[in-house]
Amino acid sequence: MTTAAVVEIDHRDPALIAAFCDYVPRVFRTVDFRRWCGWGEWNDDYRAFAVLDEGHVVANASVTRMRLRVDGHEVLGYQFGAVGCVPSHRGRGLSRVVMNAALESCGEAPVLLFANKNVLGFYPRFGFTPREQALFGAAFQAVPGGEPAPVLELAEAHVRTGLVSLSEEGLAVTERFGARGHARIASWYAANAFSRPLRQLHAEAWVFAGVENGTLHIDDIFAREPFDLRPHIPRLIDQPISSVHFGFTPERWWPRAEVVGEDSEAYLFVRNLVPPPGPHRFPVLART
Ligand SMILES: CC(C)(COP(=O)(O)OP(=O)(O)OC[C@H]1O[C@@H](n2cnc3c(N)ncnc32)[C@H](O)[C@@H]1OP(=O)(O)O)[C@@H](O)C(=O)NCCC(=O)NCCS
Repeated sequence: MTTAAVVEIDHRDPALIAAFCDYVPRVFRTVDFRRWCGWGEWNDDYRAFAVLDEGHVVANASVTRMRLRVDGHEVLGYQFGAVGCVPSHRGRGLSRVVMNAALESCGEAPVLLFANKNVLGFYPRFGFTPREQALFGAAFQAVPGGEPAPVLELAEAHVRTGLVSLSEEGLAVTERFGARGHARIASWYAANAFSRPLRQLHAEAWVFAGVENGTLHIDDIFAREPFDLRPHIPRLIDQPISSVHFGFTPERWWPRAEVVGEDSEAYLFVRNLVPPPGPHRFPVLART
């Protein structure tokens, strides 16, 4: 049995943060935390449980504290991310050690995570069960028009602050199964250039959206009040579109949207958590 010591890394320890940032691309080649850390986005909600070897992180499981929305209720829960072990140290039980430490920190609270297809057998060993995710969309014809919605750059501190306040004080994008206050997860995608542009529809309504092959993809909406999305769509597109797809369950924004398929790239696992019955999509920019 492995008895490696687990170190808990938070945002207050620059040396351990550097070790964590070195670890991430050793396991996830295209992923980097440096820019996001440089933006000051790592706060008390994010903790990494790591095993170190000669000062290097060799195994890790990170935990993000989340204000989950489940069927209209707020639930304190946790999301796991950056779970892995560097190739040289695999098969020694180190991931089990960090997983157990991370799970212990969550107590009996709900936990979710998004896995990849190579590790589908890993998480059930820790009490997680897989859940399906749906894709939502609607047919909608539109052509560009009106004043294009300005692009907001999350590299600018005041934009990040604005996104945090909209996400904490505004509407949750979905009440079915989602989160509130996940601006610092969304900004991680922006810091890695993985997100679609953030566009400002008006002062207190910001959306991550972009067009691909005649479909407008609306990945997330950060807004203080509900509003009608449809009149804004011509401002979000630079070519004609015939459909809109959503990165979340769009019950509030597009009640007539339909399930257009299964989100076959999202491998959701849950523990102590029962997602609502029926199709739903955990917001793509709230996934760690
Ligand atoms: C998956 C991964 C974290 C396993 O790390 P590891 O340190 O080799 O795992 P451990 O040695 O702690 O194994 C713990 C248990 O999980 C099992 N296991 C390991 N990898 C597994 C996999 N891919 N699928 C199913 N079970 C697996 C082990 O057999 C072991 O079982 P046991 O305790 O019953 O003997 C590691 O291969 C990895 O980092 N992969 C790449 C990154 C990745 O995909 N991370 C997941 C992101 S969602």
